[in-house]
Amino acid sequence: MMFIFFFLLLSLGFFVFSSSTTITTCHRDHHPPSYPFIGCLVSFYRNRHQLLNWYTDLLSQSPTQTIIVQRLGARRTIVTANPANVEYMLKSNFTNFPKGRPFTEILGDLLGCGIFNVDGELWSMQRKLASHEFSAKSLREFTVKTLQQEVDDRLIPMLEEAAESRRVLDFQDILRRFAFDVVCKVSLGTDPFCLDHSQPLPPLVKAFDAASEISAMRGMAPVFLVWKIKRLLNMGSEKKLKESVNLVHESVMEIIRNKKENNSVNGDEGGDLLSRLLSAGHGEQVARDMAISFIMAGRDTTSAAMTWLFWLLSQNEAVERAIVDEVKLVTDKNNIGRARALDFETLKEMNFLKACLCESMRLYPPVAWDSKHAAAYDVLPDGTPVRKGDRVTYMPYGMGRMETLWGKDRLEFKPDRWLDDLGEEWENRVLKPVSPYKFPVFQAGPRVCLGKEMAFIQMKYVVGSVLRRFEIKPVSGNQPVFVPLLTGHMIGGLKVLVRKRINEWL
Ligand code: HEM
Ligand SMILES: *[C@@H]1O[C@H](CO)[C@@H](O)[C@H](O)[C@H]1NC(C)=O
Ligand SMILES: *[C@@H]1O[C@H](CO)[C@@H](O)[C@H](O)[C@H]1NC(C)=O
Repeated sequence: MMFIFFFLLLSLGFFVFSSSTTITTCHRDHHPPSYPFIGCLVSFYRNRHQLLNWYTDLLSQSPTQTIIVQRLGARRTIVTANPANVEYMLKSNFTNFPKGRPFTEILGDLLGCGIFNVDGELWSMQRKLASHEFSAKSLREFTVKTLQQEVDDRLIPMLEEAAESRRVLDFQDILRRFAFDVVCKVSLGTDPFCLDHSQPLPPLVKAFDAASEISAMRGMAPVFLVWKIKRLLNMGSEKKLKESVNLVHESVMEIIRNKKENNSVNGDEGGDLLSRLLSAGHGEQVARDMAISFIMAGRDTTSAAMTWLFWLLSQNEAVERAIVDEVKLVTDKNNIGRARALDFETLKEMNFLKACLCESMRLYPPVAWDSKHAAAYDVLPDGTPVRKGDRVTYMPYGMGRMETLWGKDRLEFKPDRWLDDLGEEWENRVLKPVSPYKFPVFQAGPRVCLGKEMAFIQMKYVVGSVLRRFEIKPVSGNQPVFVPLLTGHMIGGLKVLVRKRINEWL
């Protein structure tokens, strides 16, 4: 019995709180209300997603929105929703807060030395290379062209068919497949045909899925070292992981070799990132690992953000109407007919849609939390001491729900909070500057998401193209549940019916 209890304790990651904030200054000691032992255990067990709300409650009760979590048998963890602390760890003392080995080991087999998974010199070298490529105007054009093809040739026809046959679709699944196609086309220059249901899923996609799932499981495993032993013995899930990783690496290598053979590397055919890296003279392995990192970083994030936005819009018809109006306004102004594709300049003008996306990600951030590991002793701006090796986690999910940051109506979906109130004129709708340390959904500082602009282009393109043609109606009115896997997901997907929009501006 005792053994089982202990096992539960370990495997469920039961938490013992020592204190929130400033345990150095005793007079300011603050203890969060203690939670009934078994009560937590049970809720932890039943709903892993509860952890998010549990942390969020504790953070909002802490005077400086920072808590220290001690888990039996695990690393001391500091969780913060305090923008000053976030700025400190992500910018001011960036070098003291690398991702660290505990994290990079978990994804290391799949990502190798790719930018997403390394620190220090290895990271900064790739960051320079990649920033250069990501900021190229030609990449932006290539991205918009890719989006246009994927939307016109696959997404719209699929939605039209569903509207006619009144078939229920899982919109989350569709957006995920869409995003995988786009990120592969942009990163590798190849088409995985994910959204095309008439084609079987290519092995690369299956292998990528398996590899990222198993890697994520490593991080959640009850006893940390078990996966290492399994890897050593090449057993079970670790065996599968190894096979999948080999397949991913091999497939990308083959793409690289083809590019080199066909000599498309130096020509203008290769608008994708991989071709750019190769033609800039980077080695095959470096290019391979970077491209895999891009896919990992860019695959499920945009789809998660859009899934939640579509659901929120179904609950806020006036906002949806306003997005459709904005699309009409900017396309009219730029002389783009209803049937024509959106271009980059037009997308740039969609400030209201951008506000809606930010508001949706405030409540449902694709990356709910993200951790670093302290390289040396340090003290956060609110006075929280950090020991060497501590995990320091900033939590966009909790931050989006802090009353201190967003006010009493923090739980409401109100895109207007992102806009300067300059009257009713659409042209005057300007986005308010908001500190990235208050809203770190893309992280912030030197390691801010490289694909941020690309992500907004993609999300605006898709949401704008879909909403000007269709109404997306969830079949269930229930509040969906948010789970933070590698990226935030909707449990059970988003089941919808699609209707053609009756448009007065046809
Ligand atoms: C809404 C969509 C997105 C969100 C919310 C998002 C968020 C983030 C976050 C939080 C990080 C930091 C992760 C960490 O360090 O642990 C990150 C890094 C990164 N993201 Fe994104 N991302 C999105 C879309 C994309 C897209 C479309 C790409 C394009 C391929 C991309 C490429 C990257 C890369 C390369 C990094 C690593 C940067 C570095 O370590 O220097 N992201 N992103
Ligand atoms: C940054 O971190 C180091 C430890 O690596 C620490 O000694 C230093 O005081 C920190 N603070 C600033 C402002 O650099
Ligand atoms: C490049 O070469 C491979 C075979 O080496 C071929 O399968 C592929 O279609 C070629 N691609 C282009 C763009 O010519």
